[in-house]
Amino acid sequence: MVEKRENTAPAAFVTGWPIKHSRSPIIHRHWLKQNGLAGTYDAVAVSEEDFASFIAELKDGSRGFCGGNVTIPHKEIAFRLSDRPDDLAQELGAANTLWLQDGQLHATNTDGYGFAANLDTCHPGWDKVDRAVILGAGGASRAVIQAVRDRGVNEIHVVNRTVSRAEELADRFGQRIHAHGLPALPEVMAGAGLFVNTTSLGMDGKESAVIDFSRLKTGALVTDIVYVPLETPILKQAHEQGYPTADGLGMLLHQAVPGFEKWFGHRPTVDTALRELIIRDIQAT
Ligand code: ATR
Repeated sequence: MVEKRENTAPAAFVTGWPIKHSRSPIIHRHWLKQNGLAGTYDAVAVSEEDFASFIAELKDGSRGFCGGNVTIPHKEIAFRLSDRPDDLAQELGAANTLWLQDGQLHATNTDGYGFAANLDTCHPGWDKVDRAVILGAGGASRAVIQAVRDRGVNEIHVVNRTVSRAEELADRFGQRIHAHGLPALPEVMAGAGLFVNTTSLGMDGKESAVIDFSRLKTGALVTDIVYVPLETPILKQAHEQGYPTADGLGMLLHQAVPGFEKWFGHRPTVDTALRELIIRDIQAT
């Protein structure tokens, strides 16, 4: 059981630096209210130099939290400072979800779960493909590579501007992962059933990268993990070329599910009301 303090409602946090733009409090407070549960979820700004003390206070109970989320720039250090990181967090070298249990700080990474669970909901069967293309080899692409590999996709092509970063990920995630530079994109897209963008390509207004999605298999799914804007330039192109698309907001919502269940003891549902709540927040900011 996750440790709870006597006679107090469970308290969870999200920490990052900066943290004020995090949408996690909206998500978890919506679920607390929707399910009539007692509990709190608050954003706590912690700088890099203060992070180790924050974790020490989390572990000794003086913060009063039963667990929480960790975001940029603390995901790697959170993994290293946890006592019991699970296999997913260990392979990624990064954690986004922490909880206290049996006197120890446990850690996992739910980004890959969020990616897969979202597509399971909106495009069931998305993983029944032989070849996937993942554009980008930054921090955010790792969990996607892990999730796609763990679903059994046979050939996963990671394409990145800096090919050495893609090569590092191919070494980390095993033989089914193949690394390429950007010029290889058209070739590796041929016959692929899944295309995932994890970069900010085309979003600075300067890029005019045109991608020919017709090389993909008929009906291949194109998805993006970026969710602001909801329709990224890559999704827009894919849509215009007649391909089904999935935006990145669902991954954000689904990655929050396992943490909520750990801290508050109830598995929440990602529903339209929650999605609309976040869309309204994106539009307002
Ligand atoms: P994150 O943690 O969000 O993934 P990141 O680690 O900075 O952020 O990675 C950003 C990704 O977008 C990288 O794959 C980056 O390519 P490089 O590794 O070559 O830097 C990619 N990226 C960003 N801007 C790009 C651009 N204009 N053209 C191509 N790739 C771009």
